[in-house]
Amino acid sequence: LKGVIMDLKDHIRGIPDFPKPGILFYDISTLLAEPDAWQVAMGRMAKIVSRHQPDILAGLDARGFLVAAPLALKLGLGFTMVRKKGKLPGETIQYDYDLEYGSNTIEIQADCVKPGQRVVILDDLLATGGTMEAAIKLFKDVGAEVVGTACMIELTFLNGRERLDGVPFDTLVAYDD
Ligand code: PRP
Repeated sequence: LKGVIMDLKDHIRGIPDFPKPGILFYDISTLLAEPDAWQVAMGRMAKIVSRHQPDILAGLDARGFLVAAPLALKLGLGFTMVRKKGKLPGETIQYDYDLEYGSNTIEIQADCVKPGQRVVILDDLLATGGTMEAAIKLFKDVGAEVVGTACMIELTFLNGRERLDGVPFDTLVAYDD
């Protein structure tokens, strides 16, 4: 019953001017520290993710790991990391993408999924969608089938979901400003 009525926004803080002036940072630390809210959030995420019938879940460095790893364990699935450049050993493939200021590079291990495996990519938050778009490209490049994406939070005013190459996207909460 708790889960049916809980508004997860009550457990997410908006912190102004972080990391830069003018940016309102949605902080999930308060949600993670509250066992009931954390449990409800992961329960709702598990329903979204299960519908895609994935073989493996991917999390985006670093807060995406907090979503994808517990869900993979809960659903009895494998988990793989999409990391910022230079953190993964062995053969990797990289993708560079533009940020509002400057650029970023993410990478995955070349053998992190088997060809044809169904991957769902998870993160805490979708903003411009640049990071998720880059991750989708990487998994497609190694032969995976990207069957879905999901975040806990979507900043809808940035239209990030339009960049996801037609891959389904779901969110637990949305902010329109
Ligand atoms: C944040 C967030 C997403 C990404 C969203 O990560 O966790 O991964 O930015 O932005 P986008 O949709 O505009 O690409 P951040 O780079 O702050 O990394 P962190 O998780 O390591 O804090």
